[in-house]
Amino acid sequence: MLELQNISYRVSTPEGETDILKDVSLTVPDGKLVVFTGPNGGGKTTLAKIIMGLATPTAGRVIWNGEDVTDLDITERARRGISYGFQQPPRFKGITVHDLLLLAAGEEKLSKDRCCQYLTRVGLCANDYLDREVDASLSGGEVKRIEIATILARNAQLMIFDEPEAGIDLWSFARLTETFEQIHAKHASTMIIISHQERIIRLADEIAVVAGGQIAHRGTTDEVFPMILADTLGGCPVIERKEVTL
Ligand SMILES: Nc1ncnc2c1ncn2[C@@H]1O[C@H](COP(=O)(O)OP(=O)(O)O)[C@@H](O)[C@H]1O
Ligand SMILES: [Mg+2]
Repeated sequence: MLELQNISYRVSTPEGETDILKDVSLTVPDGKLVVFTGPNGGGKTTLAKIIMGLATPTAGRVIWNGEDVTDLDITERARRGISYGFQQPPRFKGITVHDLLLLAAGEEKLSKDRCCQYLTRVGLCANDYLDREVDASLSGGEVKRIEIATILARNAQLMIFDEPEAGIDLWSFARLTETFEQIHAKHASTMIIISHQERIIRLADEIAVVAGGQIAHRGTTDEVFPMILADTLGGCPVIERKEVTL
C-alpha cells in the first residue's frame, strides 16, 4: 500500500517561494488503479516524481508497504518495486530497445517472443524496433511507447504512468488501454495513471483530481467523473475523448 502523508513541495522562483503541492494526503491500496487527472500545472507530475524519489518533498512522508521511503533515492525505490514512466522520457544513445527491455526485466536473456509481447502491447512491431537505438532517430511517441513497454517488462508492484496517451495513435492507445485493463483485472500491480483520457479514467477504481497543488476531488469514477465534466463546461478542459472503435 502507498501512503502519502501531508506532502508539500515548495520551490524558489525569481518571483519568490511557490507551493507546488500543499499538504497532500492520499492512500492507494494494493492492486487498485488510481487515476490522477486535473488541469495542466496542477501538480500531478510533481506528485508522481515525489512517489518515485525524483523530487524530495519539503514536508510530509511517503510510506510504501509500511516503510518510510521519503529519504530513499530512485534506485532504492525501484528495488522495492516502484516504477515510473516519464511524461517526456529520456533517450539513451548507444542502447537498443532490446537492451532496455532486458535491463527492465532483470534477466540475462529475454526471448524475442517475450520482447515482442511487450512491444505489441504498446503497438510496436518487435522486428522493426528491437535493434533500434533509443536515440534522437525515434519520435517522441515511439520513445514513450518503448518506455511503457519497459515498465510492463519490469512487472513492478507499483506502476506509475505519466500521460501514457501522449503521442500515441488511436490504435495503439486502444491496445494500451486493454493492457492496463488486463493488469488491473489480475490485481497483480497497483497502478497510478496520470491521464486526461476518458477511456483510462473509466478504468479507475478511484480518481483524484489534482488542481492548484491539492486534491480537489477524490472518489469513484461514478462520483467524480460528472464533476469533471461539469468543470469542463465551465472553461478549462480536463478531459479529452478519444473515440476508438476496434
Ligand atoms: N522545480 C520547479 N520549479 C519551479 N516550478 C515548478 C517546479 N516543478 C514544477 N513546477 C511548477 O509546478 C506546477 C505543477 O507542475 P506539474 O507537477 O508538472 O503539473 P502537471 O503535471 O499537473 O501539469 C507547474 O506550474 C510547474 O511549472
Ligand atoms: Mg504533468
